[in-house]
Amino acid sequence: MGIGGGKLSETATSGVMSLSGIDPELDLFAEIDRMRRSMNAVILAHFYQEGEIQDIADFVGDSLALAQSAAETDADVIVFAGVHFMAETAKILNPDKPVLVPDMDAGCSLADGCPGPAFKKWLENYPDHFVISYINCSAEVKALSDLICTSSNAAKMVASVPPDQKIVFAPDRHLGRWLVETIGRDMVLWPGTCQVHEIFSEKKIVQLKVRHPEAKVIAHPECERSVLAIADHVGSTSSLLNFVQEDEGQEFIVATEPGIIHQMERKAPGKTFIPAPARGACEACNECPHMKLNTLEKLYLCLKNKRPELHVAEELLDRARLPIERMLELSR
Ligand code: 13P
Ligand code: SF4
Repeated sequence: MGIGGGKLSETATSGVMSLSGIDPELDLFAEIDRMRRSMNAVILAHFYQEGEIQDIADFVGDSLALAQSAAETDADVIVFAGVHFMAETAKILNPDKPVLVPDMDAGCSLADGCPGPAFKKWLENYPDHFVISYINCSAEVKALSDLICTSSNAAKMVASVPPDQKIVFAPDRHLGRWLVETIGRDMVLWPGTCQVHEIFSEKKIVQLKVRHPEAKVIAHPECERSVLAIADHVGSTSSLLNFVQEDEGQEFIVATEPGIIHQMERKAPGKTFIPAPARGACEACNECPHMKLNTLEKLYLCLKNKRPELHVAEELLDRARLPIERMLELSR
């Protein structure tokens, strides 16, 4: 198989690697496979990655499953096709292993919108609160947290805190508010949002439902309340994937990043998946611009050059690992 869909003139800025040097005749799948075997590397990929990256990965999953997989791997090298906070979590769990990322610039608006120093200052207002942070945050924020959660286990993590203990939840206010409303536990919320999930349009989804009356709406809890209110099922990416397999419905409007539709089509063949539309005229605004920075070509180059390699400041490693390990323990 030859190169598929790559932008050959593109440059991975932080890795200073020109993609134009790749031989267009090269079988990237075979090369990636050969290199991962010779390096004893494991390729972990999130459901929002391009289909071809999901297809070559050793493991594809949601944030929780990827953290669990990173915690358990016996590979010598971890190659993380996802966004920065996910690879950072893998590094925190494996401080002695190299963690390579196809594009170091693949960030996350939730993590970027909650800088460590500002979060630390904000927490001074809540000295007697237990701090639960969504995994979509920096190592600095994790190091200031008591417990980490993902969208898969957030309700369970919140429920693990004694009922009379006050809680602050960061950085996603939509997920936080959804938890407050569904499990009836009050929490102070950091005002962060996901730039992708917050622009799904309730109005356009309702219009789509007119044309597809049988379609069920499924949504990630990072969406706004108005979208969650019209959803037939709300859950993490893995929960949405399970739902479309188990539900008798044949048509689904998917209010999360459309990369997941690759897995839905594989796991529930014959069913129809319609990406939920975003507000405004932009067709591709429901794609995560960070996740989509990774390409098969950059994955090939990062294995070939063994860079970019992700590092986490030594002084953060132990403090950031504690609340992640607490989450992994409570999720067993
Ligand atoms: P999941 O943990 O549900 O895969 O979500 C990750 C994410 O970044 C959602 O935008
Ligand atoms: Fe972050 Fe949103 Fe992209 Fe997920 S979809 S990685 S929360 S910006």
